[in-house]
Parts: sequence; C-alpha cells; structure tokens
Amino acid sequence: MPSGSGVRFLGITDGQTSGAAIIEDGRLLSAINEERIARIKMARGFPWKSISEVLGLSNTDPKDIGAVAVAQVDMELRETVSGWPGWFEARAQDADMHSAFFKIASRFGGVAPFIPGLSKAYYLARFPMYAHRRRRIRQILDQNYGIAAPVRFIDHHYAHATSAYYTSNLENALVVTMDGGGDGHCSQIYSVKRGQFRRLAMIDSYNSLGNYYAYITAICGFKAKRHEGKITGLAARGRPVYRELLESMIGCKKGRLINRGRVLFNTAVDRIRAALPAGWKMEDLAASVQVLSEDITRDYVRHWVRRTGHRDVALAGGLFANVRINEEVHLLPGVENTFVHPGMSDEGLAVGAGLALQGEMDRSTGEVREPRELEHVYLGNSYSESEMAEAIRKAGLQATHLPGRIEEEIAEKLSQGKVVARFNGRMEYGPRALGNRSILYQPGDPTVNDWLNELLRRTEFMPFAPSSLFESAGQLYESYEGAEDTARFMTITFHCTPWMRERCAGVVHVDQTARPQMVRREDNPSYYRIIDEYRRRTGVPVIINTSFNIHEEPIVRSPDDAIRAFLDSALDYMAMGDFLIEGPVGSYATRKKWEGRSKWGRATDSPTSR
Ligand SMILES: [Fe+2]
Repeated sequence: MPSGSGVRFLGITDGQTSGAAIIEDGRLLSAINEERIARIKMARGFPWKSISEVLGLSNTDPKDIGAVAVAQVDMELRETVSGWPGWFEARAQDADMHSAFFKIASRFGGVAPFIPGLSKAYYLARFPMYAHRRRRIRQILDQNYGIAAPVRFIDHHYAHATSAYYTSNLENALVVTMDGGGDGHCSQIYSVKRGQFRRLAMIDSYNSLGNYYAYITAICGFKAKRHEGKITGLAARGRPVYRELLESMIGCKKGRLINRGRVLFNTAVDRIRAALPAGWKMEDLAASVQVLSEDITRDYVRHWVRRTGHRDVALAGGLFANVRINEEVHLLPGVENTFVHPGMSDEGLAVGAGLALQGEMDRSTGEVREPRELEHVYLGNSYSESEMAEAIRKAGLQATHLPGRIEEEIAEKLSQGKVVARFNGRMEYGPRALGNRSILYQPGDPTVNDWLNELLRRTEFMPFAPSSLFESAGQLYESYEGAEDTARFMTITFHCTPWMRERCAGVVHVDQTARPQMVRREDNPSYYRIIDEYRRRTGVPVIINTSFNIHEEPIVRSPDDAIRAFLDSALDYMAMGDFLIEGPVGSYATRKKWEGRSKWGRATDSPTSR
C-alpha cells in the first residue's frame, strides 16, 4: 500500500451503472459513470471509457496511480458494456451460467437457511468465475491503461459505507447501508468514530427489504431495480391496504431484517401476486410497500441509533435512493444530522471503493483526517466555449452570445413561463442533475408535470424537484435542520410550508413533500445567480430543476448530446454556456393541450409565481 499525501487512487465499479473515480487526499477529483459515455441508461460491464475519462479529467498519469480499488469482491466479469433492462429481464436474457444459478436460487432460496452448507456450496460453485474476474481486471488495467499499481477488491457494502461516511462531514456517525444485495449482504451497520470503522451487523441478502421493493416494482409492471422511483411517486396517491400482507413476508426485529415469507426472486413475485385480492390497485400496492419500507427502515435504524448512541447518520445503498425513506430516518427521535451519499446506489461504488483505500492508507499512517464536507459533485466533463460554438454551428442553430448576462436572461425567460434547458460547466456525478445539465421552469404551474413529462416522453409519478436558494430554506421547508448538507444534492424530501405549497404547486407532491436541491452560491455560482435573478423578478426563490435527458436516455454529457435532446423534446430555449438558442418548435402546443386539466389532482388555476 502506498502512503503519504498526494497519492492518487483509482476507484472502479464494473456492475450495474459501472464507472470510475479518482481520489487524492480524500478529495474527489473526477467521477463518471459509463452510462453517460455509452449513452445507455444504467449501463453495466467493465467501465472502459470511464477509466480513461477520469484519468484525463484529473490530469492523472496512469503511472501516478498509487492503488486501484475495485468495488465488489465476488461477481462475474462483463467485458461488454450493455444496458440494464431490469432485474428479471436481465436474468431472462442471460443465457449463461449466471441465469442457471439465478433459477437455482429462486427455486431453493426458501429452504437455503435450513440446509447447512447450501449457500456456501452455491457460492463455491461460482467461485471460478469470480476468480477469473479478479485476474482479468488486473490484466486489463496493466495492458490497456498501463496501470501496474496494486489492485484491491473492496466489499460491496463497505464501499457503500465509505462513500457515505467520507463525504458526510460527520466526525462520528452511525453508517447504515441498505440495498437489494451485493457480496452476499443487503445491509451493513457501522459505528464510525474519527475514521475508525466498527462493523456491528451484516444482514444476508436473503433478508433483503430492497428486493421486496423490487418485487412490487415488477408486479406493478415496471422494471425491477430500475424504476423503483415510480413506485415511490405513486405511493402518495394510494392507501396502504396491503401493508399487513407484505409485513407477513418481510419485517424487522431487534435490529435485524427478516424474510418471513422465505421466498426469493420469481417465487416471491408469484407468492405476492397470488396473495393479492382480485382487482388490486397499483397505487395501493405502491403505498403499501412504501409505508412498510419506511416503517421497517425506521425500526431498523432506530434500533442501531439507540444501541450506539450516535446522533448523526450517514446512509448509502440503493434503498436510500428512496427520498421519502430518507426523510423518515431524519425525523427519527435522536437523529440530529443525516447525510445520504449523492451517488447512493451502485453508481457510487467506484467513489466508495476509492475512499475505502484512502481510509485504509490514513489508518496505516496514523493520519486522522478532519471531516470535510463534499465540496460539490461537478466531477464530470466540461467543454470549452469554442467546442460549444462548433456544436451549435454544426447543428445549423442560431445562437445569441450573452457573456456576463446569460443568467439574467435565463431568469427572464423563466419568469415569462418559458422552459429553458441549461448546459454549463462540469457534468454532475450521481443520478441527479444539479443545474449544469438541467431543464428549468417556473415552479407555480400545477399542470407542468403533465405537459413537460409528455414533451420529455417520461412516465413519472413524482413531481419535478425544486432548486431553491440555500438561505430561503426556512420559508419553504419544515424540519430540514440537520439535513441541509445532504439537501445540496437532492437526496431527501422535506414537508413544505403553506407558503411553498401555495406558490410552488408544480413541485409539491400530493403528500405535501418536495425533494429540493438547496443551492449555495459557492457550490454553483452561475446556477445560484439564475435562481436569485428569478427571485428578484417574481419574489419566489425556487425554480423547477429536472434532468436534461429524454425518455430513458442518460443525462446529456456533451454539447452534441444536449443539442439532440433539445431538438428532440421541443423545449423553448437552451442556454449552453453563454449561448442562448431558441428552440425551433417550442413547448406551446403541448402545454395548450393540458390547459385547465391535470391528472395530478391539483387545482389548475394560473401559475402563481409571477
Ligand atoms: Fe449496492
């Protein structure tokens, strides 16, 4: 293991939403996921291009990499990058050994805990494939990138845990990871004090709450382990009438998750389907799994908060992509500060693995690193003005160059009710667009979720998210104290104040919550200025921010991606760097169709933000 300051670590994840990151002295220098480069949502497989990209973005010579951290110890290697079609679809498509093992697990999963050695035999049989991956990755790094540094494989949940702790600005914390499963576990619990990790619990993947959420996602007709956000959005419109049914299958007792149904995968889906009454409603099933997941997670975290006496919690793992669960954790008695890693699902494992190695080096040298807040997540590609100008010219578009006043112009357009796509600076790391690859609109229009989703060809049940000035939080949200840091990354919901509910109807869900990005000037001066200029014009320190992508495509990365998405979705304007481009079609016709009606169940009086 290398030691000393200035050592650079390369973190890699090669599973679902694969990617890479470079870390130096505990700071993230660059991070990107393969999906953005391959232009395939949640792309899985070896992150060939991400590795080259993060080296280039951080000006790192491959020879200067001190060590490489690869997330996940046991997994098959996929050398070809491909899309993530959904959990069940992926298994159905795979005609390899993996699928056979999946069927065995599905068939015998229910009895596995009662037959000694069965789980062990299952993993032993897969071991040669795992060993091949570890050998081959070392070979690829050496032969394809000239990286001869030591390579370490980091436990999946430990990588989630380190991603949460080392970006949290918390000195001592209860670190909780929860997801579907990885390296045999669906959750781990750590007590961390000044960088010293003490693991208190590990929950076998067999008892995964995340998997139950995925089963419900599939039963509702969506892609499991991909579209869980739709279930979270739908939940607010239903009643949790099947909560008890689901609780008979998955629960929590004394700080442990328990698969009471003793079923896995397809068998679990079949069992739940059979137990549902005829004519069951999707909204009610969504509400049931959401409410139960909130209750179980609350019980689980509460147990470990009481056991450890920690007041601060740091969270990561796919379950914490559920922004409503995160709010419930934050509201637990005894919890003061809550932080959710911005790349909370497996897209964050490269960062976590790299930070795990950094932590190990620090401990070996006796260095105690002071907690430090995550400065920002603008860790991806940026493009020069001439590159943007060239892309605009190539596309045959007319642009107005507005150096020094593009932000005012965007705010003016927003206050006139126009939709503006914003492409500026470095691309965000993680699942959220935070102002540099975002589509912006005023927040007061209650029909926006209908027509803008139609323009972007999305099916969403969660309203668009607000970006608001950091200083305005008290006017807009309730009980946000202690979660301000994580709210910079849009990772948690808050209940909204009456003022917010009245003035920003387009971003408040039917359960009265919103999932804000609280923007500080120093985090993104240009974006802050747009919101501030909008506030000056309208008195509302909030704008809508939804990711700049269309349909099921990843968020745009390059000027060419942006122009294609802009033209394809008929938005009013695009502000690329200092260039303002008017869309040839605009959003007027689609909006007109929705005037006076909303399937979102809101009053559709005229926008109140002006
Ligand atoms: Fe995970």
